[in-house]
Amino acid sequence: MKLTIVGGGSTYTPELVSGIAHQYADLDVEEIALVDPDTERLEVVGGFARRLLDHAGHPAKVRLTADLEAGADGAAAVLLQLRVGGQAARVTDETVPLECGCVGQETTGAGGLAKALRTVPVVLDLAERVRRIAGEKAWIVDFTNPVGIVTRALLEAGHRAVGLCNVAITFERWVAGKLGVAPETIALDHAGLNHLTWVRAVRVDGVDVLPRLLSEHAGELAEHVGLPAEVMRRLGAVPSYYLKYYYRHDAIVAGQRGPSRAEAVSEIEHQLLELYRDPSLVAKPALLEQRGGAYYSEAAVRLVASLLGDKGDVQVVNVRNGATLPFLPADAVVEVPARITGAGPVPLPVAPLPPAITGLVAHVTAYENLALEAALHGGRDRVFDALLAHPLIGQIDQAETLADRLVTVNRDFLPWA
Ligand code: G6P
Ligand code: MN
Repeated sequence: MKLTIVGGGSTYTPELVSGIAHQYADLDVEEIALVDPDTERLEVVGGFARRLLDHAGHPAKVRLTADLEAGADGAAAVLLQLRVGGQAARVTDETVPLECGCVGQETTGAGGLAKALRTVPVVLDLAERVRRIAGEKAWIVDFTNPVGIVTRALLEAGHRAVGLCNVAITFERWVAGKLGVAPETIALDHAGLNHLTWVRAVRVDGVDVLPRLLSEHAGELAEHVGLPAEVMRRLGAVPSYYLKYYYRHDAIVAGQRGPSRAEAVSEIEHQLLELYRDPSLVAKPALLEQRGGAYYSEAAVRLVASLLGDKGDVQVVNVRNGATLPFLPADAVVEVPARITGAGPVPLPVAPLPPAITGLVAHVTAYENLALEAALHGGRDRVFDALLAHPLIGQIDQAETLADRLVTVNRDFLPWA
């Protein structure tokens, strides 16, 4: 089969390609097309991708192109991992909200809204072109943030799309390591929205080991999530590490005075590209672990293998809600365990969520809906509406200022501004 990676010049690409090279799932990849407008970067990343495959003895051919149509022609699955505006735009996502005392984060809060405004129109255009060239059957796997909003945009436009994030698999692998069990024996009761999830049970061969994890590994869990273990015990759940931006918002903002994550990532990327240029490098460098994409390759390869192979195994994905979380609209996109079939992911039933969780999930779902409206139809006032509806902004003065600032700094990426 042919796999296409849009945003193939990303420094994350070797993570994904090494997953294919080491055959984490039985996916018969004959060709990998890396599509990216930055052809210089594509050459560097693509050259390294070829060496990774060669070294592992994998026969897949790597095709490098700036032309989406050439890259997606004949693809069985297309992975979207692009960043509109690059790290430079991410710097503003992470710094402009701070001017109003709001968290500066690339997917959460005002920064995530700015990213959605830039990204949704580009992704929809790419998806439309993919559908024309690769056909209705090709799967689109979206890793492009904000995954919840982007996936919803894709599904509403009728695309065969699934949203993917590595938060659940990272936690699953952590548990596997701590308990010395195989990841396949673990089933997470993981529910919520992308980057707004809670794990309420961790079943190993059917037995819930979460209480044990919370008592025996409290310190490490607290460090990983950035929240006190005592609070997790009271919630009876492990929130994703993105929940610290809500539960500890002001403390996080107070600590966000130094260089942004985007600046740190730019430096890591610069060094990674230097390493990738070295013809003797044939395996993922350790430096890649300083990026947040752990297990991304395994998650992506596993998902594509199950979609194409109609495997029916359970994976955590971003999918249309339907009746899964009954307090949300059916067309919301939720992040839950789903059975991955050839016809797409089928969400498993989720045990009712407690009020401490439903309120926030419903609030952010309403914001995501307004964010999508703003991204699709444009207009400074729609941006204001989304900001006012976000639990981390929610005040008129901040929403007015941020609406103006976000539109101004992103003007080059917003056709309507
Ligand atoms: C995690 C999230 C991704 C996000 C990444 C950021 O993996 O699940 O959605 O893109 O972190 O990592 P970075 O190295 O770019 O800060
Ligand atoms: Mn993610």
